[in-house]
Amino acid sequence: MQSKDISTASAVSHLECSRTGERFEAGQIHDLSAAGWPLLVRYDIKRLRQNWDRDSLQNAPRSMWRYAPLLPVRLTNDIVSLQEGFTPLHRLERLAERVECDDLWLKDEGVNPTGTFKARGLSCAISMCRELGIRKVAIPTAGNAGGALAAYAAVAGIDAYVFMPRDVPLANFLEAKSFGANVTLIDGLITDCGKRVADGKASENWFDISTLKEPYRIEGKKTMGLEAAEQFGWTLPDAIFYPTGGGVGMIGMWKAFAELEQLGWIGAKRPKMISVQAEGCQPIVRAFQQNAEFSEFWQGAATIASGLRVPKALGDFLTLRAVRESSGTAVAVSDIEMMDACEELATREGLFVAPEGGACIAALKKLRQSGFLSMSDRILIYNTGSGYKYMEAWALHYGSSLPTAGDVFPELR
Ligand SMILES: Cc1ncc(COP(=O)(O)O)c(C=O)c1O
Repeated sequence: MQSKDISTASAVSHLECSRTGERFEAGQIHDLSAAGWPLLVRYDIKRLRQNWDRDSLQNAPRSMWRYAPLLPVRLTNDIVSLQEGFTPLHRLERLAERVECDDLWLKDEGVNPTGTFKARGLSCAISMCRELGIRKVAIPTAGNAGGALAAYAAVAGIDAYVFMPRDVPLANFLEAKSFGANVTLIDGLITDCGKRVADGKASENWFDISTLKEPYRIEGKKTMGLEAAEQFGWTLPDAIFYPTGGGVGMIGMWKAFAELEQLGWIGAKRPKMISVQAEGCQPIVRAFQQNAEFSEFWQGAATIASGLRVPKALGDFLTLRAVRESSGTAVAVSDIEMMDACEELATREGLFVAPEGGACIAALKKLRQSGFLSMSDRILIYNTGSGYKYMEAWALHYGSSLPTAGDVFPELR
């Protein structure tokens, strides 16, 4: 156990409004900026350049906390970790042949604690709750973030209130419940869960951990980008495929690359950032095609990839900015295409992935066929979750159905 006064050497300097640039002090409880937009954490990179170098990572922890100087938590003792991050990078040689890519890689986020990349964001957010003395948190979730929040809150001894759609995969409900969270099933989507949290937070004294309404989940998720850079020897791939719901991973990685360049650890080259969504819920794809700065609420959102069932995201303009600045694009795929791609990953590569991961392979096929990407491009796919959390989707793929959380626990409202 580390003593309270050991510093992580975090170089956090302040927070900044993502639209107006207004500055806010670090070390205080924040949600949105005064203008109502997401806040971004900023660091004293000049100072970091002098006392942190790439070689020192050889001795760093094999988790996302290896990048602690570029994360907001100031004291080691406040870090709430279940060994998240530093996930494997697989070269997909057999699938590469089939999709005509010479240089195809998959970062497997399914091996994280609670089986998805959500562990990264929630490890960071709950660590900051501990630093700031927050004792009660609430989250609206498409499913996986609720499970991850519950796990980290359990470790930190923080009360967790989780609101998830009634038809989430059963695993999401059971894991959150098992970690001791107060779970409510809602008739509706993540946006309806968000309304419940917003309505209750003043009277219940909850701190709202909604996507981008607090500034630290994005910091945890940006480590996906830091790791990719390190694992590729500090050169970035030509394209990154990211399954986009709230967009936090995409925004975080884009931020990570800018910070790495300021540190002098990578050059100016950036991957094309490819936002992948489901045909049944594609607000970012639509906004990208229409050249709009913001997305519009997607009516009747429906997809087997529950993490992509986000009809409108607070940070949509930041996701779209990353896609455009990188000369990337946005692609929608059908549920059948994504599950067929999941099966190909399983049969050819021995990887049992979430539909969100399969969606990226399905999107890659489209962009190879259209010529947007070439055979020699180095491609990185993010599989954001384990297939083990999606028994319903896999059962459906094989022609059967399983009950969802709401079917098994109909009394829970
Ligand atoms: C497995 C999975 N992939 C992707 C996403 C989308 O993540 P983001 O909010 O970073 O776009 C989610 C969100 O719930 C998810 O659970």
